[in-house]
Amino acid sequence: MNTSAQSHSLQKPKILVARAIFPDQLAKLEESFEVQSNQEDRIYSADELKKALSGVVGALVTGSERIDAGALADAKDLKIVANISVGYNNFDVPAITAAGVMASNTPDVLTDTTADFGFALLMATARRITESEHWVRAGNWKQWSLINNPLGMDLHHTTIGIIGMGRIGQGIAKRASGFGMNVIYHNRSRLPEADEKACRATYVSKEELLKTADHVVLVLPYTPENHHTIGEKELALMKPTATLVNIARGGIVDDLALAQALKAKKIFAAGLDVFEGEPTVNPELLKLSNIVLAPHIASASEKTRRAMVDLAVKNLTAAVAGTKPPSLINTELFKG
Ligand code: 8YV
Repeated sequence: MNTSAQSHSLQKPKILVARAIFPDQLAKLEESFEVQSNQEDRIYSADELKKALSGVVGALVTGSERIDAGALADAKDLKIVANISVGYNNFDVPAITAAGVMASNTPDVLTDTTADFGFALLMATARRITESEHWVRAGNWKQWSLINNPLGMDLHHTTIGIIGMGRIGQGIAKRASGFGMNVIYHNRSRLPEADEKACRATYVSKEELLKTADHVVLVLPYTPENHHTIGEKELALMKPTATLVNIARGGIVDDLALAQALKAKKIFAAGLDVFEGEPTVNPELLKLSNIVLAPHIASASEKTRRAMVDLAVKNLTAAVAGTKPPSLINTELFKG
């Protein structure tokens, strides 16, 4: 490298990419930034994260990086933490704002992929698809039978109850209409009439939803108030023929109470993409056959994961340039 190229590279702003991203997206970033990357994809300890954030002006992070006052203690140059995720319960937003750092997430770009997956998980759960596959692989399929092969629950013309009616919840409601399902929902606040119409959805209380839905789908953000939105009491309200799907966050469901309800056949089946304390899965859940388990992959299509990185990069680049990041969370910080 000649001297002028060297001094040019020295002037590039320093950023952190805290988890592995697609190599071509990393190479593109390296054209404009001096990048501290982690293509090894080993999750930083709290101390390593704090060190990695010191001296950088921006950071691309994911749900596995907890960004709080401790993580930011030495991050004197940091302008933005750009989450590659729509959910941002890994952010202590007041602490980030107090440190004068912008925070952003990746809404919209993952809505359809995640809604598709929610519906796929619901179908797999109701129709016992993974359980059937395990049964076939184990050599149990000796003959076709009208009544002695895995029998599931219908989706078409049943009632789906969606808790959390943001973009993804609405996406699931629209898919459900195609199956002739009756859509009921519960949300912190009721949707405007036009949105309810577009989703053909009826607002009900949480209790009514749990009592009447044939399929309950959870798509609400994780907050302290939403901790254990579904526990023993709520599971007891559900129909014994009902299914429960969680694509929201671990902690929204009390996983032990769910395992007990599934074991006692208090509900028919569950599909989980997220878990309390993931990637560890409660061993009681692992013992059950009336459950479909997935490793937090609702947004995991290559196209969407790339779009999430692209949006996070846009947020980071804007903040470093002093313009407003497109999906800024703590908007009060933007003085531009
Ligand atoms: C992410 C998600 O893959 O966007 C979200 O909220 O749950 C997923 O799309 C995950 O959070 C990793 O950051």
